[in-house]
Amino acid sequence: MSTPPDVEDLIVHHSDSLREALECIDQTAQGICFVVDTGGRLVGVATDGDIRRGLLEGADLSDHIQSVMETDFVSLPVTTDEKDIQSRLSSKIRHIPLLDEDGRPVDYACRSKYRSIPIMEPHLGGNELSYVTECVETSWISSQGRFVEKFEDMVAEYCGVPYALAVSNGTVALHLALEALGIGEGDEVIVPDFTFAASINAILHAGATPVLVDIREDTWLLDPEATSEAITDRTKAIMPVHLYGQPCNMDEIVRIADENGLYIVEDAAEAIGSLYHGEHVGNIGDVGTFSFYGNKTITTGEGGMVLFQDEETYQYAAQLRDHGMSSSQRYWHDEVGYNYRMTNMQAAVGVAQLERIDEIVERKIQIGERYRRELSGVEGLTLPVNIDGRKNTYWLFTAVLKDEIHIERDELISKMKMNGIDLRPVFYPLHEMPPYQKYGSSHFKVSSYISYNGVSFPSSTKLRNYEISNICEALKSSLEANRIMGITK
Ligand SMILES: Cc1ncc(COP(=O)(O)O)c(C=O)c1O
Repeated sequence: MSTPPDVEDLIVHHSDSLREALECIDQTAQGICFVVDTGGRLVGVATDGDIRRGLLEGADLSDHIQSVMETDFVSLPVTTDEKDIQSRLSSKIRHIPLLDEDGRPVDYACRSKYRSIPIMEPHLGGNELSYVTECVETSWISSQGRFVEKFEDMVAEYCGVPYALAVSNGTVALHLALEALGIGEGDEVIVPDFTFAASINAILHAGATPVLVDIREDTWLLDPEATSEAITDRTKAIMPVHLYGQPCNMDEIVRIADENGLYIVEDAAEAIGSLYHGEHVGNIGDVGTFSFYGNKTITTGEGGMVLFQDEETYQYAAQLRDHGMSSSQRYWHDEVGYNYRMTNMQAAVGVAQLERIDEIVERKIQIGERYRRELSGVEGLTLPVNIDGRKNTYWLFTAVLKDEIHIERDELISKMKMNGIDLRPVFYPLHEMPPYQKYGSSHFKVSSYISYNGVSFPSSTKLRNYEISNICEALKSSLEANRIMGITK
């Protein structure tokens, strides 16, 4: 959809003909034009319906538009508060001219200008519908069918990994990864304090002990130094989380893991397509996982994938995914397994998504870079760091409010909500929440700081460039208003 036209494009003069008014309506695709007198003052509005009715009642295309225009219309002073303007828009009143002191239209409001901007929307519209329809028409709606393996193959090829296993979501992907590596009771797994709770939950479900560590101030990701310090003789694995699409420092993490004989389980739930020195995240450690939840870069509704380097671990995981059943003997169980299978219908959506992953990832990066450009120089805002060799795919573009800024993070979120913009707080520090307190420490200053000052911006591929500009403008004016009023945190 293109940018809504400027108000000038919607204006016709009262002596213009019905034909000229129709041409104007045709060009702007808004279904309405604003009629002004010789002084430029608004005297009426005319919709395509008004003109059609006029013609049916005997008017001629060469007649003046003022003969059919509506003179009883809603308009508002341009100084009206945005919230009040929005409240007047409805399915009947879809356009409101905004007038200056002399009654001249200088702007207008319409629904599309005030579309509420969600934090994320799935990028559908390719072959998703036809592939899912195929599943229904052929009755292959469960976890058998051509799409599951195809989806696995496509993800494996995209990431350059030898083996990929589709599962029902990103949380069980992590759990299966740990179980397949034999990690369980008595083992410790190092995980960052700042991540979505699924990372630590998976460790607990495997029966292992999570060891929380603080994050780095520049990347907001697992701190390798803190990781080294947290290693004990019970440590079995490190779980770096490529949060918000930003790759972790894998050189350091691989070095630490190698030196100490540890596994690496990469939680790349939020980072499909992100690269570390040209390598796909998820393909660097022993095992890597993705989430395909509806808000992720690519989606299957619910879904996940586990990437393996080693065939034996992959085969074992495949067996665990399917109730622990022997692959050669149906209903013979060698293991206590799980049902973590992905359905053919989910995979059908996944295949359609993978067909367009380059386009999706490229748009995510463009959006991230655009935010970065428009917000660079905004005082009091720390933007995601750009590090040579790391390609961030900006799952959610996230920034951190500095101490000197004049607004509380949650107040900023409410203000932006009033503009129809869905800003989101980042995750809470895990060590502060009751189920995880005993695995961390109140000394995790960086994680706490980022948690309470971080904010994620709408990052859907459907975002239009002018919407990104509107978001940045709304943000800047909220910050500026508080600065002028001298409000401090
Ligand atoms: C960092 C991280 N890990 C794991 C998950 C779990 O994925 P899912 O929601 O598909 O279970 C998520 C997703 O929400 C996540 O953001």
